[in-house]
Amino acid sequence: MTSQQQPKPRIAVVFGGRSSEHVISCATAGSVLATIDRAAYDVIPVGIATDGRWVLADGDPERLRIRSAEELPEVDGSGDLVSLNAVAGGAELVVSAAGAPPSVLGSVDVVFPLLHGPWGEDGTVQGLLEMAGVRYVGSGVLASAIGMDKAVTKVVLAGAGLPTVPSVVVTAHDWRADETDCRERIAALGYPVFVKPTRAGSSMGISKVRGPEELAAAIETAQAHDPKVLVEAFAAGAREIECGVLGALDGGVETTLPAEIKVGGDHEFYDFEAKYLPEESTTIDLPADLPDEVIARVREMSAQVFRAVGCEGLARVDFFLMPSGELLVNEINTMPGFTPTSMYPQMWAASGFDYPQLVERLIQLALARDTGLR
Ligand SMILES: Nc1ncnc2c1ncn2[C@@H]1O[C@H](COP(=O)(O)OP(=O)(O)O)[C@@H](O)[C@H]1O
Ligand SMILES: [Mg+2]
Repeated sequence: MTSQQQPKPRIAVVFGGRSSEHVISCATAGSVLATIDRAAYDVIPVGIATDGRWVLADGDPERLRIRSAEELPEVDGSGDLVSLNAVAGGAELVVSAAGAPPSVLGSVDVVFPLLHGPWGEDGTVQGLLEMAGVRYVGSGVLASAIGMDKAVTKVVLAGAGLPTVPSVVVTAHDWRADETDCRERIAALGYPVFVKPTRAGSSMGISKVRGPEELAAAIETAQAHDPKVLVEAFAAGAREIECGVLGALDGGVETTLPAEIKVGGDHEFYDFEAKYLPEESTTIDLPADLPDEVIARVREMSAQVFRAVGCEGLARVDFFLMPSGELLVNEINTMPGFTPTSMYPQMWAASGFDYPQLVERLIQLALARDTGLR
């Protein structure tokens, strides 16, 4: 490179992480690493091991692939440690190899955090990046934290006049201190109810509860993931509709054609197996077979949810379409599944925007946006 040439923006792709969605994150990173335009960007793969260590990772997309249920990708925590240091005007990556003094790897222009769940999608990593003064892809601290917490999401959406399923929150203290009161609040919703961890994903810890006798076991199952438990009324007869939202460079938002998820076979709802072993029974209608009026409502409401939560970059909004025609927001995911075969990129592909275009747009949005209040 001659001194006249502009250096390429350097992107750190951060993946793996401490959450139970570590493997999915690795697979996503493999796809993104294989897609980023190397002629335009310098790319540094940074893995977060399951124990929380940040390491300079092997970014070989082939090794990050899910080959089979026995060969799952994982970040090797024994690599050289990496840290992100705030420096004047930005951030730099510092590598500490065993037995050698730390060395500066160089400045970082953008971090692409491909992390799902707690310690990644919940505002914690976003806070760290804000402190380091480095730009990053996706939602900021508050929107990430709101999106992770299904109970707080409802409060925010209610404030914006957006409807969700009626629910009650049962904290670990509530349940211990006054189980009778908790049971009364839950019974008022009417059985069956859905019991779920407030801050989790991939349907983990979720149960459908038919009557009060099944409640204690379901609360315990949810508490294994999160001491704060959400109990929701059953959305009877609902169709499950999803919609992708993407930020535009002019500050607006764009939405995809909606998709419908149809869960069949032995699955009573869209549980973990139906999500990740979908060949058995789940079918996806893309685009969803819905009247134009409903499609327009889904897209408009998705953009409203994105704005109400204060999202940036990308999000997937999930709905229950009730037999009455009422549309209820189920949840918002600020870092939705992002392999080329995941719902979010698939919905964009069906809407005329392919995976490389999606990755490029997200990087451009991140480069254009400063850290701090905005
Ligand atoms: N209140 C409800 N009524 C009916 N089905 C529900 C309800 N809540 C969740 N489900 C079912 O459980 C699945 C997972 O729940 P969800 O709240 O989306 O959790 P996650 O964040 O793990 O995806 C949904 O896709 C749906 O199939
Ligand atoms: Mg869901």
